[in-house]
Amino acid sequence: MRYFTSGESHGPSLTGIVEGAPAGLDIHEDEIEHHLVRRQKGYGRGGRMAFEKDRATFQSGVRFGKTTGAPIAMTMPNRAYEKDKSNWPVVMAKSGERGDVERITLPRPGHADLVGTQKYGFDDIRPVIERSSARETAMRVACCSVARKFLETLGIQIGGHVIRIGAVGYKSWEEVRDIADPLYENGAHQIYKRSDESDVRCLDDDLSAQMREEIKLRRKEGTSLGGIYEIIVTGLPAGLGSYVHWDRKIDGKLAQAIVATQAMKGVEIGLGFEAGQRQGHQVHDEIIYNDAFKRRTNRAGGIEGGMTTGMPVIIRGVMKPIPTMIKPLKTADLDTKKEEDTRYERSDVCALPRAVVVAESVIAPVLANAILEKFGGDSMDVILQRYQKETGYDNA
Ligand SMILES: Cc1cc2nc3c(=O)[nH]c(=O)nc-3n(C[C@H](O)[C@H](O)[C@H](O)COP(=O)(O)O)c2cc1C
Repeated sequence: MRYFTSGESHGPSLTGIVEGAPAGLDIHEDEIEHHLVRRQKGYGRGGRMAFEKDRATFQSGVRFGKTTGAPIAMTMPNRAYEKDKSNWPVVMAKSGERGDVERITLPRPGHADLVGTQKYGFDDIRPVIERSSARETAMRVACCSVARKFLETLGIQIGGHVIRIGAVGYKSWEEVRDIADPLYENGAHQIYKRSDESDVRCLDDDLSAQMREEIKLRRKEGTSLGGIYEIIVTGLPAGLGSYVHWDRKIDGKLAQAIVATQAMKGVEIGLGFEAGQRQGHQVHDEIIYNDAFKRRTNRAGGIEGGMTTGMPVIIRGVMKPIPTMIKPLKTADLDTKKEEDTRYERSDVCALPRAVVVAESVIAPVLANAILEKFGGDSMDVILQRYQKETGYDNA
């Protein structure tokens, strides 16, 4: 399963194509909208939220509520384009001359602006802004929701929560485990459902309140915040991925999916960086047999030797602070080369609560492909039969 997105932030629409989804998967636009709406909610949002309600519409590959095995094309209008018809159709015109459409010449540090213009030879930053913007993650979430539904059909659930915003966060791995682990005994959907109840997507009420205060304070100061989130996946069988070759290791593939998302700067599997500060006995998970092979703890985050162990996968990502800020940074004008202040455009102060939904989504195709590689088939009936035979999973 793979997917492509296209579209500009202020163009008429975003488009996505999902290729390689098996036939016979139950899928509805409402299920996709569920995650799109989740991606839109969160404390720390800028003004765009008010007029942008995303919905992806299937154009192909789905018939009577089921996939046909053909590429699934989706489109999603950009409401900003619709709302400002005197501006964006002119700025983003597909033909004609530039005329008096303003050139943007002040590159924003922390964005693709400067290098994007150098790489593609533009004298205007607009095309870089339009495509590198995280608006694209809306279509990414839509495409990945197909893979997510495929996983759910096999009892595999994904749920994420925020563990740090700026200076406010849990103090240790164990503190997170105490609050998160009991919640996903019956599947990781409980994690996202509980974290969705908090507008900062944090499972702890006290921390949620502190995170809101932190965002409020930094907004007043005109700066921005990043943070760290944790994604949990339950129901995965052991043996997805492989130790035999570098590009078959599932941890490497998951890490790529996350770091290839706007503003993500690092990934941890299980204990992650903290493992480097501990002794071996505080890191490795003892093996026990209790009807099946299990681990006493899950500090490896459900992955050893590039393969899933059958324990829940626990993966963390770090997001840098939003680069667009009320208090300007210094930059240099593309034309004059003179020092200037960056210009502020409506922007989030902290997008962590929304980024969690994007991260939950982008790992779904990686896991779906690992399942297809091991239990693959062209239709859901065949895949379910093979999956049940090998794992004992019963989706009845
Ligand atoms: C869900 C989400 C929302 C974002 N919202 C904004 C925003 O409102 N303003 C902004 O300047 N950057 C925003 N970003 C961050 C930029 O997209 C990101 O910093 C930029 O693409 C450069 O990231 P890179 O250095 O990882 O490529 C957002 C990122 C994500 C994932």
